[in-house]
Amino acid sequence: MRVPIACVVGWPIKHSRSPVIHRFWLNELRIVGDYVIKPVEPDKIAGFFKTFASGSFVGCNVTVPFKENAFAAVDSLEPAAKAIGAVNTIWVEDRKLRGDNTDAAGFLANLDQEAPGWDRYGGPAVVLGAGGAARAAVWALVGRGVAPIYLVNRTVARAEALALRFGKGVRPDDWAALPQLLDGARLLVNTTSLGMEGQPALPIDISPLSPHAVVTDLVYVPLETPLLAEARKRGLTTVDGLGMLLHQALPGFERWFGRRPRVTPELRRAVLETMVN
Ligand code: ATR
Repeated sequence: MRVPIACVVGWPIKHSRSPVIHRFWLNELRIVGDYVIKPVEPDKIAGFFKTFASGSFVGCNVTVPFKENAFAAVDSLEPAAKAIGAVNTIWVEDRKLRGDNTDAAGFLANLDQEAPGWDRYGGPAVVLGAGGAARAAVWALVGRGVAPIYLVNRTVARAEALALRFGKGVRPDDWAALPQLLDGARLLVNTTSLGMEGQPALPIDISPLSPHAVVTDLVYVPLETPLLAEARKRGLTTVDGLGMLLHQALPGFERWFGRRPRVTPELRRAVLETMVN
């Protein structure tokens, strides 16, 4: 029998944590298989997807900057991928490529695991940023019935375009409106790159948030961003971005290797160990 091997494709891609996650699960579940990094130059990506179904991989993850290429290349799309407009997980079925986007499911699973009951009040939520990560987070929140969702972005036109895609519950605005929008909000989500190592912190005052608010950051380097540190000091519930990275990996593993793994403290520790310089 052929040993199943999956990969992650991106460019540049040296620092991907995905092999650590999948190899941890393969080892834990005693599955003979592997998961490798596949760097592909941008001008070769179309050819890579074209021959993928007849190649040796059972599937792949797709990361920056190829999620939209993957969206265009697959033969069929799961509903999440269709709604988000990007594919991060591919598997081969009957020699055809099927594409999913597991970021939204990973985002929700992380909140459910780390802050159970976070959606009890249904909103309001404030989402910062309007890029690909925001698209996944907003689609996930809409699907959970969270409303209103205030979508705040430096470039308001991007927030407006995203809001149009997801309906009336999503309200675009600019940074200047934040003090009012945060007032009493139950959930704050950062999908921008601010707060990431080497980037400035988010320039916001979170004191107007509800005292019962949950604050989550998609940035996971550092694990505790300035935003999360401030929220924790204020006694709010915080959820870091590493959990989303781990949860979004799960559906792909299940498709490729046939078993459903779990996100555990041991897995978190194994991935964190690779982040210490
Ligand atoms: P991703 O796909 O990871 O979401 P992206 O599409 O590059 O990445 O989006 C990055 C987000 O971070 C955007 O919302 C961006 O705001 P703009 O749309 O105005 O560019 C936001 N962002 C990045 N740097 C920022 C900064 N210095 N101040 C405010 N927002 C910033």
